[in-house]
This record gives sequence, structure tokens and C-alpha cells, in this order.
Amino acid sequence: MARGYINIAIVKYWGKKEFNPYLIPTQGSISLKSNRLYTETNISKSDVDKFILNGVVQNESETKKIFEFVDKVVKEREKICIESKNYVPTAAGLASSASAYCALTKELNEYFKLNLSINEMAKISTMGSGSACRSFYNLAAFDKYGEVYELNTDLNLAMLAIVVSDKKKEIPSRDAMKIAQNSVIYPMWVKRANDDFEKMKKALIENDFVKVGNIMEKNTIIMHNTTFRSNPLFSFLNEETYSVIKTIKRIRMRGINVFTTMDAGPNVKVLYLKEDEEKVLEALKEYFEGKILLC
Ligand code: ADP
Ligand code: DP6
Repeated sequence: MARGYINIAIVKYWGKKEFNPYLIPTQGSISLKSNRLYTETNISKSDVDKFILNGVVQNESETKKIFEFVDKVVKEREKICIESKNYVPTAAGLASSASAYCALTKELNEYFKLNLSINEMAKISTMGSGSACRSFYNLAAFDKYGEVYELNTDLNLAMLAIVVSDKKKEIPSRDAMKIAQNSVIYPMWVKRANDDFEKMKKALIENDFVKVGNIMEKNTIIMHNTTFRSNPLFSFLNEETYSVIKTIKRIRMRGINVFTTMDAGPNVKVLYLKEDEEKVLEALKEYFEGKILLC
């Protein structure tokens, strides 16, 4: 049994350049690993290849998707049953694909005795899901050359999610990313995101939390702008997302350092410093009681 945690990007991965054989993204991303939300995956011997997720035997396309990955990692193998459980909502923009492919890569390494290093596993996991590689590190960088590594800061970064919806999204991240890469503003996103990657690294080294929060918020907006300017245009965000963002901004104006980010779904993640947790929770509970998920 292997466990993989989710990670939330503070500079987003939003585009694929090539697979060589591991994923090279169009731009660098940086993320924070959760220590609460995760996937557990177990492999056992089986008569047929089978994939069970959250107790449900998966359909042909989900099974095909996961075994295409398995076959890239293990060339000659016996038939297996992959049984996985998400302790995070599945496909709701809360990074289940990252925790999933992190856990699966670790379990393949164990089960087939592949003897892979952490960094090798991280790179291999990108063949399943790009963001998964960052779940092998705490504060992770996945750069534009496809390298994955740990970053350092003295900031005690912490995240929580305001859960607007835990339903399965209509457009999977993968398809959304593909559509967004044809957006007219996509080249601008790539340039901007690469600048943000460098600026974020500097802000983290300088332990400048306000800078970290501001870079993250702006990076998030530009990422989502690519979806508004796509053909067909779409958005992961809804009315409630915007209302949560406005409330968080108001709380920030009261002097509490909280910053927002959204991924491929309407849920809003809030970045704060661990030492502020009590006052952050107190302020948020006034508006979002029952919707707060510590990450
Ligand atoms: P999310 O925002 O949750 O990461 P994505 O659309 O990026 O959503 O990925 C969701 C997809 O990841 C699912 O449709 C499924 O194909 C895959 N997935 C989720 N959980 C697991 C798991 N535990 N094991 C294998 N694949 C998983
Ligand atoms: C918006 O890693 O789910 O969450 O590589 O196609 O599986 P695939 O995409 P995925 O995309 C994550 C996109 C994001 C931003 C991020 O986590 O960096």
C-alpha cells in the first residue's frame, strides 16, 4: 500500500510542451504539498487487469488510461488489480490526479521492485499526470526543463480550501489544458508564468509572504483568463467562487494575511501562515462554516 498527498500550485502548471519520455511543461510551476488530503493505492495479483477506485470497478476508458501508464512504467509484468481510495474529492479541482499518480508510482515501485529514487519516481509520475511529480516534495518546483526539486523557505506556508463544490468537474483538467493551449493569449501566459516562477522563487528565499501571496493571486487569474479566451471558451469558476474571493479580500483588508488561488474547479484555496491559523479560521468561520477543508 502506498500513499500520495495532493499538492496545490502557487504558480500553476498549465500546458504541455512534449513528452521526452517524461513531461516537459510549457512553463515552470511551484506547489505546496498537503499533509492531510491523500490517495492510497494497493496492487495485488489478478487474473485480469482491473482498476477499482473508491470501491467501484472502473469502466473501460478509466481502466485503459491507468494501464497505459502502468505499461509505460513496467515493460513486462503479470496481470494486476489496482485498488485505490481518495481521501480527497475526486476530479473536483482538488488535485486528486496528483495524489493518485504519486501513490500509484510509489506502489508500482514497491510491487515490481523497480528500485527507483524519489526523483526518478517524480519524473515517471508525469506520464500519468503532470502535477503528480510535485507531490514527491514538500515545496516543489517543476521547471520548464522538466526537472523536479525541493525549494526552501523559512515561511510556514499553509493552505485550506473553501469547498464550493465537491462534484466531478465537467471538463477534465487534461482536456481543458489542451483547449487553453490554443487560446490567443496562451503565449502571453507562458511568458508571464515563467516570470512568476522566477519571482516566486525569489520571494520564497526572501521569506516575503505578501509577495508570495500576490504573485500567486495574479498567476491564478492569468491562468484562468486563458480559458475565457479559448475556443470554445469556458470557465472553471462560478458565481460562488467570485463571492468567496471578494470575502477573502475583505478579510485581508482587516489585516489578516490570506490569499486565494483556484485550479481546475470552482473551489477556492486560501494560503496563509501556519502561525496565523487560529485567527484565519476564526475570520473564515464567520462566512464559510461547514465549507472549510484544511489541506
Ligand atoms: P483533479 O482536480 O481531482 O486532479 P483531474 O481532472 O485533473 O481532477 O483528474 C481526475 C482524474 O484523475 C480522474 O478522472 C481519474 O482519471 C484520475 N484519478 C483520480 N483519482 C485517481 C486514483 N485514485 N487512481 C487513479 N486515477 C485517479
Ligand atoms: C490547474 O496535472 O491535472 O491544477 O498533466 O493533464 O494530468 P495532467 O494535468 P493536471 O493539471 C493540473 C492543472 C492545475 C494547475 C497545477 O496544479 O499546477
